[in-house]
Amino acid sequence: MNLNKLKTTAGVDVAGKRVLVRADLNVPTKDGRVSDATRLERIVPGLKDLMGRGARVIVLSHFGRPKGAPDPTFTLEPVVAKLGELLGTPVTFVPDCIGPAAEVAAASLAPGAIAVFENLRFHKGEEKNDTAFAQGLARSGDLYVDDAFSAAHRAHASTDGITRLLPSYAGPLMMEEITALRAALEEPKRPTAAVVGGAKVSTKIPVLTNLVAKVDKLIIGGGMANTFLLAQGIEIGKSLAEPDLTKTAHEIFAAAKARGCEIVLPVDVVVASKFEAGSPSRAVAPTETPPDQMILDVGPKTVVHYIEVLGRCNTLLWNGPLGAFEIAPFGEGTFALARAAAELTKAGRLVSVAGGGDTVAALNAAGVTDDFTYVSSAGGAFLEWLEGRELPGVAALAR
Ligand code: 3PG
Ligand code: MG
Repeated sequence: MNLNKLKTTAGVDVAGKRVLVRADLNVPTKDGRVSDATRLERIVPGLKDLMGRGARVIVLSHFGRPKGAPDPTFTLEPVVAKLGELLGTPVTFVPDCIGPAAEVAAASLAPGAIAVFENLRFHKGEEKNDTAFAQGLARSGDLYVDDAFSAAHRAHASTDGITRLLPSYAGPLMMEEITALRAALEEPKRPTAAVVGGAKVSTKIPVLTNLVAKVDKLIIGGGMANTFLLAQGIEIGKSLAEPDLTKTAHEIFAAAKARGCEIVLPVDVVVASKFEAGSPSRAVAPTETPPDQMILDVGPKTVVHYIEVLGRCNTLLWNGPLGAFEIAPFGEGTFALARAAAELTKAGRLVSVAGGGDTVAALNAAGVTDDFTYVSSAGGAFLEWLEGRELPGVAALAR
């Protein structure tokens, strides 16, 4: 994949053209209302740019995981209302994404106006990357713009098939994400650190394997650190861990050693008897974990140590929390490290890039999201990028 082959619509005359924009409107909702509009806010500039240039903008997106048939639980209609608010302009909602209704709506759209088609996943052809379905979508457009980096790990009709049918371009958010991740992972200012947390090693083996070959310091936290402690023969009481993966942990230690990457593990941990808000807790050395208690966060000495490691690095990639941050007080380790990374970034001493749903929620809770160099809008796609995998949606644009 040659990323230098990515084209944007800069210099392309889009006036009067029907531009199909693949966006990711897959936002969290609660009681039928958008509860976090971050992803919508991030596509607004690209949409406004096309509208301002006189394009007739038609947005394509999935929403949730319906099973290839219309399902009112997954209608995009409430999301469209929120998008209209953010754009400050009416947005036409079109109740299907292919067929006469869609084609007529696209044809009758005025230059500078915008419409959103109903959930792509109401048709089986979307996830199957079916050519006939992609052709159905393409009939409503003259050009295609993919601004959905967070859906680029899917080879679907709206991210792959359609690029074979229409002149295709990368949108500004797509370009921004790729540029930020390349800068942090492929061409970073060394030394580099990665913080990888989260519950399980099993879900992040490919990430850990790729990162030990790329970064200088791999800081591990969260439940997955327990499996690494276990692999070192440390007894960790009732802590969450994956004992069958201690062999994998040893392989990762060995790969890191061969590559000159230092794996940084907790030197103290916060333990409690129960995973409950306000459950009495204390910090102990990992070797002192009581048999009837569990590790729920990294301890204060670990935070000091991790901050000291970051202080010696120039680039940070972060995916996954260091503890059970959803429940107080077990977010303290994550929040303290997040604040320190934000301070180093503001002081111009660190390039900090973070991504993933839990990570972004933790940065938001710590109030430091805006102080990071870059926060990705992607979850699964961010992780696959860290795994070193080619994202089909990006590859399609680079073809
Ligand atoms: C996401 O929320 O990570 C993207 O919108 C992709 O959604 P999916 O995992 O259902 O394909
Ligand atoms: Mg997902």
